[in-house]
Amino acid sequence: MKLNIALLPGDGIGPEVICQAVKCVDAVCRKFGHEASYHFAYVGAGAIDRYGDAFPEITYQTCLEADAVLFGAVGDPKYDNDPTAKVRPEQGLLAMRKQLGLYANLRPVETFKSLVHQSPLKEELVDGADFLVIRELTGGMYFGEKGRLDGGDTAYDTNIYHRYEIERILKQAFEFAMRRRKHLTVVDKANVLESSRLWRQIAQEMAPQYPEVTTDYMFVDNASMKLITGPKFFDVIVTENTFGDILTDEASVVSGSMGLLASASIGEHTGVYEPIHGSWPQAAGQNIANPLAAILSAAMMFEYAFGMMEEGKAIRKAVAASIENNIVTSDLATSSKAFSTIEVGDWVAAHI
Ligand code: IPM
Ligand code: MN
Repeated sequence: MKLNIALLPGDGIGPEVICQAVKCVDAVCRKFGHEASYHFAYVGAGAIDRYGDAFPEITYQTCLEADAVLFGAVGDPKYDNDPTAKVRPEQGLLAMRKQLGLYANLRPVETFKSLVHQSPLKEELVDGADFLVIRELTGGMYFGEKGRLDGGDTAYDTNIYHRYEIERILKQAFEFAMRRRKHLTVVDKANVLESSRLWRQIAQEMAPQYPEVTTDYMFVDNASMKLITGPKFFDVIVTENTFGDILTDEASVVSGSMGLLASASIGEHTGVYEPIHGSWPQAAGQNIANPLAAILSAAMMFEYAFGMMEEGKAIRKAVAASIENNIVTSDLATSSKAFSTIEVGDWVAAHI
């Protein structure tokens, strides 16, 4: 099959990790007889430098025309400490999500046997944890009306959710729960926030359509504690944009390193597959970043964009083998030698 892939490596360590993911996609194509074509486009700080826009029209068109987008990261420190900056790399990511209609962000968290002893959490708590966080991605405070009043001394962001936005993400969540262990946890702050009360109301309306799914409701503060004290409780978590952003960084601790967490963003147009770790500008160009999250994102791309489960599995097996054999970057190598980004990428590609 022909795979038409848009490549948006972005900023910081993005290009280095995406390069390793491409090696692995090519290895899968050789093994299974597919043919990948890649279409490069700028996003983030690189796109601002070139076009004055973090998600320029040409990048949008490249994404629309592709079957899948492999995305690295955006962000550059020169914008972080400048609250007056008019254009920011992160706007590129938000524009991409909004324009491609990517309302569902899937962030699976699993543990690797050979890594559980390295977790900052107790081994018996994390061993066997395996859950999926579904984060709403195109609504809420990220996109609600925001602004300044009083000559700049008052600032606001609006956490607004419409029924159709909540219904479509909950539908995804119930369906994923059906395909997994049939346990859905709806995370909100319904004891305080009106938007959360609407989420909970709609979830309660929909739950009877999925009688096999055990649905429970948890306040976000409690959920953040439960993720650390009992992550094995969870199967599928669904939550709004801001809560999902925060909880998934926290959840990455369960798997041992942020460098392991892959994600898929799906919705109306072409899906985007990306590591959740961000651009880590301090490490850019040093060949030390963990490429496994990007490589696992490529596995998600095969599974979700192309329905190629065997191809995804081939990548996952090679990644698990690299971890078992300690062919890992410094974030995961405690007592053993740390390998470089390229060495890990080459090893995984060779073992596909
Ligand atoms: C993420 C990131 C982004 C977000 C930033 C870079 C805008 O933290 O994908 O989780 O907040 O959504
Ligand atoms: Mn985040």
